[in-house]
Amino acid sequence: MGKGPQLATGEDARVQEKLRTSGEIPGHIAVIMDGNGRWAKKRGLPRTAGHSEGVESVRDTVEACGQLGVRYLTLYAFSTENWKRPKEEVSLLMRLLLKALRDETDRLHTNNVRIQAIGDIDALPRELQNELLEGIQRTKDNTGLTLILALSYSGRWDLTHAMRRIAREVVEHGLTEDHITEEMISSHISTAGIPDPDLLIRTSGEFRISNFLLWQLAYTEIYITPRFWPGFRRDELYEAIRDYQKRERRFGMVSEQLHGSQTEVGAGRFMKSLTGQ
Ligand code: IPE
Ligand code: IPE
Ligand code: MG
Repeated sequence: MGKGPQLATGEDARVQEKLRTSGEIPGHIAVIMDGNGRWAKKRGLPRTAGHSEGVESVRDTVEACGQLGVRYLTLYAFSTENWKRPKEEVSLLMRLLLKALRDETDRLHTNNVRIQAIGDIDALPRELQNELLEGIQRTKDNTGLTLILALSYSGRWDLTHAMRRIAREVVEHGLTEDHITEEMISSHISTAGIPDPDLLIRTSGEFRISNFLLWQLAYTEIYITPRFWPGFRRDELYEAIRDYQKRERRFGMVSEQLHGSQTEVGAGRFMKSLTGQ
């Protein structure tokens, strides 16, 4: 059987095609999936109902990203700090994650999705670790979307571990300070080999990073929506991408450098415009 994402149909396929032709589809999207509890509370439901419905949002987002040709999708599912929540909620979240992996891995595999994980995986319950590692192993040769689950993850955890690994190498291989470069640090953090996110989506209207990919988000475009995660579906993903396509990513430079001619004449004209001479 041929592998690939199930294709979008009807109006959805048309919307996706329009997105592909109107601009660049971000290669890496990262999502802070927030607001499950508030979504449930608003409906007079227990927080757990929000977490369950959040799984539906994950399913729809993963499918739409695969169809659009997004290369990497990183989902912040459980942070280092989330361990501090009431024990019942933590254990429910762990069970829900286990169930979601059990229910979804087959479909992900058929859709050519490659599963990966970042975070302190050893801290997760044994059963969840096993399910996760099995899913990663089973899907490792898939060539479609790479789905990166951030579990027991935090940016500071990531950087701390990278620094420890680097310190070990310094001692073992007698490295000097010149060996410590940005590239070297990037290759020691948990997302080594994965390009930095192009677009970060945060739901529930909070304007903060909450200890997510601190190093990797240096030049990521940020899209914040007031919608709670369980209410997030592909229409809002499309909106985030449309918004992203309107941005100018300058990476510290000025607009003319991005659009101006690369020839000397162009460069000369550009310098003139800067100096006014
Ligand atoms: C996000 O929703 C899920 C996790 C952090 C695990 P929350 O559980 O944080 O829901 P709110 O933000 O309290 O509404
Ligand atoms: C961020 O949500 C973590 C995840 C989505 C997994 P939180 O609900 O933990 O973040 P804060 O506490 O509002 O910053
Ligand atoms: Mg929250």
